[in-house]
Amino acid sequence: MDRPGDRPMRNRMVSEDSCEDSCEDTDGELLDAAPRRKPQSRARWLGLSCCFFASVGLMMHGLLREWTDAGVLNVVTWNIAAINNNPFEYWITHNDADYNKLMEDVQTFIDAPGERDVLVSQVFTPAMFGELKALMGARQWPGLDAVEERWTSDLSQRKIISGFLKDSALGEKRLTSMPDRVTNTINVAGGGVANRPTVINCFGGDMSSIPSWWAEWKGFMFEKALALPGRDGGVTQTIPASMLAKIKRSKYPAITEAEENISVPLQTLAQAIFDAVLVHVVNSVSPGAKWQRLQQQMCDALNRRKNERTLAILARTYSDATIIFLQETASVFVKTTEAHPTLASRFFLAKAATLDAKRDQNSIVLLSRAFFNEATLAEHTSAVMGGFDKSVPVADGDLLVVSVDDLMGRKYLLASFHGDTNGLATLPVLAALHKLALTMPEHRLVFGLDANTYEVGSGSKQGVAEFATAFVLDGYTSCWGDRPDPKSDTTYNARTFLQPQLQKAARIDEKVSKGDKNPKDFILFSKNAFTLQAATKDNTGERRYITDMVFPTLSFPSDHGIVAASLAVR
Ligand SMILES: *[C@@H]1O[C@H](CO)[C@@H](O)[C@H](O)[C@H]1NC(C)=O
Repeated sequence: MDRPGDRPMRNRMVSEDSCEDSCEDTDGELLDAAPRRKPQSRARWLGLSCCFFASVGLMMHGLLREWTDAGVLNVVTWNIAAINNNPFEYWITHNDADYNKLMEDVQTFIDAPGERDVLVSQVFTPAMFGELKALMGARQWPGLDAVEERWTSDLSQRKIISGFLKDSALGEKRLTSMPDRVTNTINVAGGGVANRPTVINCFGGDMSSIPSWWAEWKGFMFEKALALPGRDGGVTQTIPASMLAKIKRSKYPAITEAEENISVPLQTLAQAIFDAVLVHVVNSVSPGAKWQRLQQQMCDALNRRKNERTLAILARTYSDATIIFLQETASVFVKTTEAHPTLASRFFLAKAATLDAKRDQNSIVLLSRAFFNEATLAEHTSAVMGGFDKSVPVADGDLLVVSVDDLMGRKYLLASFHGDTNGLATLPVLAALHKLALTMPEHRLVFGLDANTYEVGSGSKQGVAEFATAFVLDGYTSCWGDRPDPKSDTTYNARTFLQPQLQKAARIDEKVSKGDKNPKDFILFSKNAFTLQAATKDNTGERRYITDMVFPTLSFPSDHGIVAASLAVR
């Protein structure tokens, strides 16, 4: 490709190189001799001009380096992953042996409880049910007698593990997962969150025994009103119990009509039992509530300070990048990046004109100020979004497409994309992006994405080999070549037993078979625009990838590795 911007500098480099030796020879002489001996030979003049160019060359040294670097783009892509409310949800790699012991003991308790599989009424007692019924009655909720009937004849008689936690019908009816979604972690007005007292979030109050947890739980759900952001910037006072909504049979066919009618008090009861059982399990295996100290430590690393840690990795290890594609960024992350001393001075941010604030997961791009011309930035997301069918599972915020020129006037088309869990949107998005790229032939395409592809594809999951066939056919290649190694994963995570979807839990020896260990993250680029110089992946934040290590870890806060590639401009 023609690179007009290179030429003047190339010429200067040649001048400097060609006279280097003679300049050194004449340097000392010129300094004292030149003023006295006016008539000078042609040779001396040559020497003088040589030295002039040499000093220009020296002054320009930094700039020269940049010009040389202008032939190489250091590209990074990272799905930083949305903040998870439950620090226990996935197995993490933890250097405290107590963590592994806790998780293994919980696994054993839930997997093979034996005589520890006691009746629900022994953990969530009839007296506690009576208190709960009174609190619900005070809210004038209808259907409480029917709920009491369900409690007496059914729920209280179930075993805590086999009959309750592992009951798939309760799961299909969403009786514990729905209220958990609403009350697990509630964003309050003016920033900050309120946590339901449960094991599966960052609640920091006393849960070292059932009575202390129950006092907290009642207070949270029914007594203390929260200030929630209301319409038009206002604030509304609400107790969490009144945020619960009916579970509709039309949406969740497993629930009966009678259950739908009483689904608000029924889910409240199911939630109370679920939370009580988990508090019972963790305190049984972790006396002295060491589990809660581990929980709080993980909350600090993976939850409360997650944005800070993510930004620190970018600033420490990747601040020399030319392009950083990021996925699943929340609006608060975007704001923090724009105010970050290192990152904001080195990069400008490309983001959608309207960030998706509801789901709050956005794909963005950081562009080096030393390389790109911010004034040329233009967005093309809607042109690509309009290029595929509405049934393709791309949510608002998942895709960002921009064009930008570098400081030498070369043009780029850049896309940052977060694929749906099964990767089914990846091929349609690639095709639509390719279609746009064909209309912009002077632009060099670079595409950073979490393709959500799998080692082995199936009818419901996008395989990595088929993805590669598709991008090669369109004239692209990847940082992992034309045929990425299906075993070279960029994710490795597995669910623990401390989360509501127990059917997905992996025992410690099932982390691979039931885990998500897949090649998901890619940098794609036009074959005729770039040559790949190097590619690395990283799950430590230090440009190193430890294979067979589940992550996140306390020092690496995402469940996706960072992928980096050096692309030489052709
Ligand atoms: C559910 O509630 C509706 C409306 O109140 C009522 O007509 C219906 O009979 C109830 N169904 C059951 C099974 O209780």
